[in-house]
Amino acid sequence: MRRLFLWAARNTWLKGHLPRFRFMKRAVRRFMPGETLDSALDAAAPLEAAGIGSIYTRLGENLNTLEEADEVADHYIGVLESIAARRYRGEVSVKPTQLGLDHDEDRTLAHLTRLAAKAADTGSYLWIDMEGSAYVESTIRLYERLRGLQPRTGLCLQAYLKRTPGDVERLRPLDPAIRLVKGAYDEPESIAYRDKRQVDASYLALAVDFLKTGRGRPIRLGLGTHDVALIEQIAEQVALAGVPRDGFEVEMLYGIRAREQYRLAKAGYRVQTLIAYGDAWYPWYMRRLAERPANVAFALRSLLP
Ligand code: FDA
Repeated sequence: MRRLFLWAARNTWLKGHLPRFRFMKRAVRRFMPGETLDSALDAAAPLEAAGIGSIYTRLGENLNTLEEADEVADHYIGVLESIAARRYRGEVSVKPTQLGLDHDEDRTLAHLTRLAAKAADTGSYLWIDMEGSAYVESTIRLYERLRGLQPRTGLCLQAYLKRTPGDVERLRPLDPAIRLVKGAYDEPESIAYRDKRQVDASYLALAVDFLKTGRGRPIRLGLGTHDVALIEQIAEQVALAGVPRDGFEVEMLYGIRAREQYRLAKAGYRVQTLIAYGDAWYPWYMRRLAERPANVAFALRSLLP
């Protein structure tokens, strides 16, 4: 089932046709409040009131021309201004291929640098998503170059990749900000763990080691997962080394385990909700279906009027 949905996420014909169906639009609403930035910002109001921060991402990836990246960068400048205008504790998260990584790495870095400078000016923060394995090396390279110029920047790393412990070591001299996720793409066994227990074990080891060795340093770790048992296990293990619950962050997607997000915030964790919006939601939504078969039943129910 997982592989089928990940294949569907990449299929160009399905990408062109499925999003036109009204039941698909209805089903995706579970994971995104709407296609506009305003709908995302409005959805953050109750979260803000509960002390939960927000991270905004406009869905889209792999552009056809480099000029499209200029529009995406300008859009995110506007997002940072809107976050500041609402006085939210909001941050943004971008995909490097949305900013032209397929076409020109230096220009992508220029966009990231401009966005990070605006984020710093407005008291916000810029996160870089991690895409499929073909982009991992170039994305890490981009972050290494960016972090030297703009400190209010963080990078997503994927626990399912066997290379990730080495990447953490490589980034350590930068005192990096890392969002650790399990990984959402269909990667071969030669480079990635495919068994859930192995992915979870890798996640636990990476998070605990990063927090323990980074204690007292200006590092930042976001646990980008809905696996509450794993989050609590990490919290327990690092507490023994003197890292408190608010020494890291919990980052979850809008619409997933919402009650847990409020509960964790109340229990003293620093929680952030990533809110997606935009009309290019198809591959992203397919990856959400791949993560959990129960979501497919939900999508099928949306077929009903
Ligand atoms: P896991 O899949 O083990 O799920 C744990 C529990 O969470 C499930 O039992 C279920 O209850 C709930 N759950 C998980 N997914 C669900 C879903 N789709 N619907 C409903 N319930 C669900 N990936 C990537 O490769 N690059 C990236 O840049 C990012 N960025 C990112 C940011 C943030 C804030 C999050 C939360 C996640 C990402 N991801 C990502 C996605 C990540 O790699 C992973 O695919 C998902 O988070 C699902 O895995 P979990 O860690 O939640 O665990």
